[in-house]
Amino acid sequence: MRYSVTIATLCLAFASTSAFALNQYYAMPGNAANGEQIFKNGKGDVPACTSCHGMEGLGDDAMGTPRLSGQGYKFLVKQLSDFASDKRKDETMFVMNTNAKGLTKEDHQDVALYLTNLEQPFTPSDMKAVKEMGMTPVGTRYLGKSIAQYGIPERDVPACHSCHGFNGRGAFPIYPMLGGQRYTYLVAQLKKWRDGTRSNDPMSQMQIVAQKLTDEEIYNVATFLTSAPKTTMGNARIPHLQ
Ligand code: HEC
Ligand code: HEC
Repeated sequence: MRYSVTIATLCLAFASTSAFALNQYYAMPGNAANGEQIFKNGKGDVPACTSCHGMEGLGDDAMGTPRLSGQGYKFLVKQLSDFASDKRKDETMFVMNTNAKGLTKEDHQDVALYLTNLEQPFTPSDMKAVKEMGMTPVGTRYLGKSIAQYGIPERDVPACHSCHGFNGRGAFPIYPMLGGQRYTYLVAQLKKWRDGTRSNDPMSQMQIVAQKLTDEEIYNVATFLTSAPKTTMGNARIPHLQ
């Protein structure tokens, strides 16, 4: 007992801020070389992921695609499997359901393994460019920071940090990284959780939160999150999961 506690303490002490370190708490089956091949060149009728998510998997505000690099392994596998079973619908470009169905379960794992270890420099959305696109209004950062850190207690909105970790750094395996995510994607998903067009969250955790947010609050919190850097060691919620 005392021995295992010591080991656990040591493991935590050596954990660093990288997704790789966080991910080490659970098994990540897959073949990263095949994942890279699919990501860059596609497979059969499935086009290269880079064509929409970018060469480095950083996503694109003009297309509304999310950043994938550095995201949690299990979260990525879950999203691909949810797209494949139509539990989640891509109503932005209407492509991800077909893409996920065109790949096997092993391919999902392979591409997730490649992406989770694809660490990239911190790249917040270019809010000036987003403003110029004129499609998604831009929020106020400090107001969003308050929601992320403290929630809105008088309306029972929990702090985003309580699940997603400090500055939205992610609390894998369940809670995805939001810090540095593309602004337009964050806004779109929060609206989808709110109106129920996205409902693949365990125990409706996100729908319950998003239903309490106004448009203004969504813009504010997304403006903060896209520009929130990873600053802490992080906390793998369920280190003993597998
Ligand atoms: C034609 C454009 C396009 C291509 C090609 C594409 N995607 Fe996507 N992807 C999208 C869009 C748009 C979304 C956001 C869907 C939504 O709004 O719900 C998305 C979402 C995702 C998500 C969900 C991420 C999250 O944070 O929830 C994953 C995972 C993903 N794509 C992986 C892939 C992989 C792997 C490939 C290559 C096999 C790929 N995509 C190819 C457009 C594309
Ligand atoms: C009670 C826990 C909880 C709280 C609090 C919470 N979330 Fe989430 N959130 C989740 C879970 C779980 C998911 C992943 C759902 C899934 O598996 O698809 C998620 C997913 C998301 C996503 C989609 C990410 C992606 O890449 O697809 C966004 C955006 C998001 N949350 C924003 C927020 C914001 C903003 C707040 C604060 C206002 C917040 N969340 C508070 C549990 C929570």
